[in-house]
Amino acid sequence: MHIPVLAGPALELLGARPRGVYVDCTAGAGGHSALILERLAPERLIALDRDGAAVDALRSHFGGDPRVTVLHENYGQLKAALAGVGCAKADGVLLDAGLSSVQLDDPARGFSFQADGPLDMRMDRGEGEDAAVFLTRTSVEALTQILREYGDVRPARRIAKAIVAAARAGRLNTSGDLAKTIGEALDVTHKAPEETRTVFQAIRIAVNDELTHLETGLRQAVDVLAPGGRLVVITFHSGEDRVAKTVLREAARPRIERHPDGRDRSRRPPLVKLLTARPVTPDATEARANPRAQSAKLRAVERLPTSGG
Ligand SMILES: C[S@@+](CC[C@H](N)C(=O)[O-])C[C@H]1O[C@@H](n2cnc3c(N)ncnc32)[C@H](O)[C@@H]1O
Repeated sequence: MHIPVLAGPALELLGARPRGVYVDCTAGAGGHSALILERLAPERLIALDRDGAAVDALRSHFGGDPRVTVLHENYGQLKAALAGVGCAKADGVLLDAGLSSVQLDDPARGFSFQADGPLDMRMDRGEGEDAAVFLTRTSVEALTQILREYGDVRPARRIAKAIVAAARAGRLNTSGDLAKTIGEALDVTHKAPEETRTVFQAIRIAVNDELTHLETGLRQAVDVLAPGGRLVVITFHSGEDRVAKTVLREAARPRIERHPDGRDRSRRPPLVKLLTARPVTPDATEARANPRAQSAKLRAVERLPTSGG
């Protein structure tokens, strides 16, 4: 198993209650799950992933361990997924958002601009439309917005126009076609321009509707925490971190219930307390060893004992 991102702080913050019930919402290549099993000695670990190929690999790796339940599920439906295996409350929930290196490194998945493969980009290949189809029916306006919001791409409209034109002309079937189209739009043909990575990232986020699932998944994760239980979330770019920050801060504020006419009815205590005033980031050694970890940010909360439902 590889060493997962921010493994030290993630395990330290997650494991306030060893021998409890833990949930890994994004088990991926199994790195964090393996560490949870090794260091926290949980009574039960429920490991989810929306990627069927990752789930097959996780089942063959952890299949013999009676403490582990591997589920092919989207964490956007976390509560239902856990209820389906008889789990109502968890002592620790980990969500390590985004793409795994296994997915990125497999040309057949279409996530990487560095290798040519079918332009798929779905995390769950059994669900929804792939990136090639998505781009054929997307408007220039919608794609411009996607590139700006999910990739902070600057010349967004110019690139969006080129991509939509290529898609509609049937010239966008592989990740190589997409990389070439971006280069041509920016008049850079000798090597991939900086924007290539962020355009790929933005399209991937849209194809998988990632930020919607992240928001829903985090809200449900807060709900399933037992009193004293902890939620740790790791994000990799500003759009993801914004969602994590908003959901966790909201859960850490007193909740105000209102009358239908708008008057305050009652103040209920917050659901959680923040454990990380500022996000935890990789130290210099980890950032040097793993360039993909460089943008990682970790936030954590603990469910308060008196907070009710
Ligand atoms: C950054 S990787 C996690 C790597 C993992 N922590 C490890 O140690 O190997 C993210 C994983 O989350 C999965 N994923 C992304 N969005 C998901 C979602 N909405 N529901 C379930 N899994 C998701 C991806 O398929 C990928 O395998």
